[in-house]
Amino acid sequence: MSNKYGWLIYNGSLISNKFTEINNRYKESAKKKGIDLDLIKNNEIYSLVENGSTAIKMDSDKLNPDFILFMDKDIRLARHLEKLGYRLFNSSKTIELCDDKISTYQVLSDNNIKMPKTLFSPMMFKGTKENDNKFIDFIEKEFKYPIIIKEAFGSFGAQVYLVKNQEELIKKRNELLYVPHLYQEFISSSRGRDARLHVVGDKVVASMLRTSDTDFRANLANGGKMHKFEPPESFVKLAVKASKLLGADFSGVDILFGEENEPIICEVNSNAHIKNIYDCTGVDVAGCIFDYILMNL
Ligand SMILES: Nc1ncnc2c1ncn2[C@@H]1O[C@H](COP(=O)(O)OP(=O)(O)O)[C@@H](O)[C@H]1O
Ligand SMILES: [Mg+2]
Repeated sequence: MSNKYGWLIYNGSLISNKFTEINNRYKESAKKKGIDLDLIKNNEIYSLVENGSTAIKMDSDKLNPDFILFMDKDIRLARHLEKLGYRLFNSSKTIELCDDKISTYQVLSDNNIKMPKTLFSPMMFKGTKENDNKFIDFIEKEFKYPIIIKEAFGSFGAQVYLVKNQEELIKKRNELLYVPHLYQEFISSSRGRDARLHVVGDKVVASMLRTSDTDFRANLANGGKMHKFEPPESFVKLAVKASKLLGADFSGVDILFGEENEPIICEVNSNAHIKNIYDCTGVDVAGCIFDYILMNL
């Protein structure tokens, strides 16, 4: 038994049965590995700069965890804790890169990784206007309909859209003008289908296939179904490579199927949920994560 003490930090504004269940699962898995894990909300730890120094204050005497499992996206808090010397799994840098889909593609590109052709929307200041159609013309020159549009920050497929024609493109663009977003080639061979691979360290510990008959998105939140999936070696290699490039200790990698069923990277999640994969495969990804943490402390 390890006798280690850890924190799991989660977002205090996202309280639901789903999150409570996942957090409790982490706590149970930790206990089995001899780790005492406290669940702490990001809005229970206050980050300050005081007298010119980095400080945190909280209403608890349980300070000095051996590690922090950072399941939130509050990267400012994550950075603050790292500055104070805490070891975070994942690091603030990884969470920041994965949270922003544009940053993710920028890190992964030039590494011989297949990914959909993607165009980033130029940044616009709030309240300003686009005075010509140049950018719309450019999108139409570079991409064929239907075109995927994604907000840089989003999850559960909720900020991923598919537009079929110019009218829909212009409407969506106008809605997202001041929101960081991207335009992307639609991989039609993967419509309503993707693979989710959970990576811990340099291993894929669990995988599933997700399919939907009703939506182009395979996310379970949009009605997708999960299936057992033995990923080909090419999928495993791609998932581990992408995870490593992003500096992730663990991740959930979404992979699309190309024309020849070759793997095409869709996104990398630094805070992937572990409940669905458990229900599908029986693999306790949390347990794998704690094994990894104990090995790396
Ligand atoms: N370029 C694409 N071509 C085809 N399907 C896509 C493409 N990008 C995303 N999808 C589908 O939409 C889903 C959600 O996209 P993803 O980038 O993973 O966003 P989220 O973070 O919301 O899960 C994917 O799981 C996949 O099924
Ligand atoms: Mg996804």
